[in-house]
Formats: sequence, structure tokens, C-alpha cells
Amino acid sequence: MAAILSEEVINVRHWTDRLFSFVVTRHPSFRFEAGQFAMIGLELDGKPLMRAYSMTSAPFDDHLEFFSIKVPDGPLTSRLQHLDVDDTLLLGAKATGTLMADNLLPGRNLFLLGTGTGFAPFASIIRTPETYARFERVIVVHCCRQVAELGYSTCVVDEVRNGELTGEFAAKHLLYYPTATREPFRNQGRITTLLSDGALTCDLGLAQLDPACDRVMLCGSPAMLSDLEALLSDWGFTGSTSNTPGTYAVERAFVEH
Ligand code: A2P
Repeated sequence: MAAILSEEVINVRHWTDRLFSFVVTRHPSFRFEAGQFAMIGLELDGKPLMRAYSMTSAPFDDHLEFFSIKVPDGPLTSRLQHLDVDDTLLLGAKATGTLMADNLLPGRNLFLLGTGTGFAPFASIIRTPETYARFERVIVVHCCRQVAELGYSTCVVDEVRNGELTGEFAAKHLLYYPTATREPFRNQGRITTLLSDGALTCDLGLAQLDPACDRVMLCGSPAMLSDLEALLSDWGFTGSTSNTPGTYAVERAFVEH
């Protein structure tokens, strides 16, 4: 296993009783690309307990940020949710992953489709100005059960739209489509439904997804990934593999926390 670094917690923010985000220090040797993940965790009974987490901060930021679910009986998140300022977070020194722009064929529009904490890698991607140099439009879709669970992505998008480095790009290139499935909201329904009935692209004034010009990244539960992969493959999209870029990319590293 790669070396483990010790980082210090700088800030913790609880968004709902199920979701929270936290900021830690960043060792200067720790490098990553937008969309990648690393192993993070806590020391438990003298041993590291680590899980895969996407960095939500941009690769050039001097801190690291993560977005997490709280699973009451989850081995790591049941403890991680009690993180406090000055606590120590363990960080695996090597970042990796598949949700990077280089893993996709060049295209015009980039659709970032995430459910729940699946928004995490996309936070880093939309915070990174290079993303907007590669794609004419970046469409970030975040689907959660409750409206309050969209709070983190709303806040990140707001920050990107007002950011000194990203504001101008975001105004021209970034579209945000939050949707809730179990509460009334201006956008309602699962991403699968909103894509297959055309509501999402219609609401955004875009054409139906087309592998000739659109690229897609997926991050969410195994069921969400398999349903969306089936839909994309029906529409002629091909998944990226480790050595061949395709028209969509999936992250499968996130299992139970
Ligand atoms: P729903 O409320 O209809 O189950 P979770 O918190 O369970 O990970 O779910 C996050 C969001 O992803 C919820 O809005 C949920 O909708 C949605 N979702 C769950 N399963 C799928 C799926 N197979 N395809 C698309 N969206 C899904």
C-alpha cells in the first residue's frame, strides 16, 4: 500500500443529517488531477481504516476538501461524521481514478451526472478552469432525495460562478441542474427518467444527448450507474476503458462507507 500522510482538519460543515463536507491541510507532495480519488480514513485500534473519496477541491488549491455521507453503521463514516477541527485525517499518498477529461474522447458538451455524494468528483472538475477550455458546455446534474441534500452542490456552483479564476468561464460554459426525487422542487425526478423523457435537455435548451458531440461522466450508486450505462449504450455511447478513451466514463471505486 502507498504511504499514508497525516492531514489536519481545518473545517467541517454538516449539510443535512446524512451529508457533510470537510476541509483538511494538504501535504505539498500530494498531487492529483480533477476527478480523481484517494484513500482517506482514520486510525482505529492502531490500524488505518481507509475508503475511497474523491477530492472536491481543485488540484491547485492549497487545502483538500471531501464530501461524505453518514452511514449510521458504516465502519468509517459512523466515525468520520464526528470529525472536528484539529483532528487528524489519514490520506493515502497516491491519487487515482477514471473521471478525468483525458479519459474521454474530445467533445463539445460534458455532462457530469451525479447522485448523492456522486457529485464529489464533479466539484473538483467544475472548480478547475481547464475544464472550460476543453468543452464548450459543462452540464452538472445533481440528483438527491431531498432538496436540502442539494445544498453542497448549490454552494460549490455558486462559488465557481463567483470565483476569480472560474467566474468568467462558468458564466459562459457552466449549466447546473439540481433535481430532487422525494420532495417538490423546480426540477423533479431521477436522472434516468429526466434523460429518457427528454425533460433535462429540453429544460436546458439543449439537444438530446448524442455520442457524436456529447461526453458523459457518471458517479453514483451501483444501481444508478448500471441504469445510466444501459441508457447511454442504447444511445450509442461507449464506455472508456483503462487504455481506450470512450464517449462516457464511470467511477466504480465507491462502495459502502
Ligand atoms: P429515488 O429517491 O427515486 O430513490 P441514494 O441517496 O439512495 O443514493 O439516492 C440518491 C438519488 O439517486 C435519489 O434521488 C435516488 O432517487 C436516485 N437514484 C437511486 N437509484 C437510482 C437509479 N437506479 N437510477 C437513477 N437514479 C437513482
